[in-house]
Amino acid sequence: MATAAPTLPFIDLVAQYESIKPEIDDAIQSVINRAAFAGGAFVTEFEKSFAAYQGVAHGVGVSSGTSALHVLLEALDIGRGDEVITVTNTFIATAEAIVQTGATPVLLDVDDMTLSLNPGLLENAITPNTKAIVPVHLYGLIADMDPILEIAQKHGLYVLEDAAQAHGAEHRGKRAGQFGLAATFSFYPGKILGAFGDAGGIITADEDLANRLRSLADHGRTDHYQHARSGFNYRMDGIQAAVLDVKLKHLEEWIEIRRRKARLYSSLLSDTVASTPVEADGFRHVHTYYVIRTPIRKAITDRLSAEGIPTIVHYPTPLHLQPAFADFGHKAGEFPIAEKTSEQILSLPLYPELADGDIERICDLINGLA
Ligand SMILES: Cc1ncc(COP(=O)(O)O)c(C=O)c1O
Repeated sequence: MATAAPTLPFIDLVAQYESIKPEIDDAIQSVINRAAFAGGAFVTEFEKSFAAYQGVAHGVGVSSGTSALHVLLEALDIGRGDEVITVTNTFIATAEAIVQTGATPVLLDVDDMTLSLNPGLLENAITPNTKAIVPVHLYGLIADMDPILEIAQKHGLYVLEDAAQAHGAEHRGKRAGQFGLAATFSFYPGKILGAFGDAGGIITADEDLANRLRSLADHGRTDHYQHARSGFNYRMDGIQAAVLDVKLKHLEEWIEIRRRKARLYSSLLSDTVASTPVEADGFRHVHTYYVIRTPIRKAITDRLSAEGIPTIVHYPTPLHLQPAFADFGHKAGEFPIAEKTSEQILSLPLYPELADGDIERICDLINGLA
């Protein structure tokens, strides 16, 4: 089927910038005026405001969500010979960070409803080498944390939340970062709180850990040319911090609009063509991605792309089937739910500036395929 020129973007970062241009321009100019480019006052300010937003005592700004995960695992001395449990249906960065430390990622299948780590599979995956569990709050929905925390506590394991897609997400009023020892975030431009380039962060209630993270992410520094440990150059840029601090002030409003638009999609889509995202009682889904499940994905993407409407699949190939992880010896069929759903999931455009009329048009086109 023919693909038309896009009639709307998958996300509209230009429209977002236009809506807050004077504040953003001022913030960037202030960084330039003070030449606070690498780390510095703007980063410290954002670390405080973001940690407070998530309801956690300490924040550490870093260069990406991937480096956030990597430096966190390193700060906990996780490395060769250790195992870290996570899910197979995540962005590759979750497992990449584990591999970077020398540890082995132990991948698990997910719950069929939430698509998050299935706690029922945890006990069997734990060995004497297991050090940590990394649940992923996929698409903006908090994972099933109560049983995960209980099992982790029983076995003395760290719980590190990959909250790259879950800024502001809640379960029973608790935000990502209030469950495990620490949570990591991505501020990649396309995230719901996105920088003007790569950026990431870690939040934790543990002051000691926050200090170790801050030092390790800055060459293991204890003083300008004193290095306690060989570390990394994972600092956050001042410009990213200043941009993020401006956007953070708008985040709650943006999340509420996203949630309203997600409800509009879910109320309009016919359940004969697609099932819509679940949000059980007590959860606040932030819909970083609005992901439907459908047996007729190809027909939907063809129909929408013929109208210039883009869609994305997050993610088409579970990690255990990625060539990059072939050495871990996984086989097709090993994680049936992740494999089946990877063929059914489809992310539709969702952003605060998306017109309700566009959502109605997208739903009409999809429902027309019933
Ligand atoms: C679940 C998850 N973890 C980690 C990352 C890595 O973040 P970054 O792209 O900022 O390195 C992402 C980014 O998309 C992600 O979605």
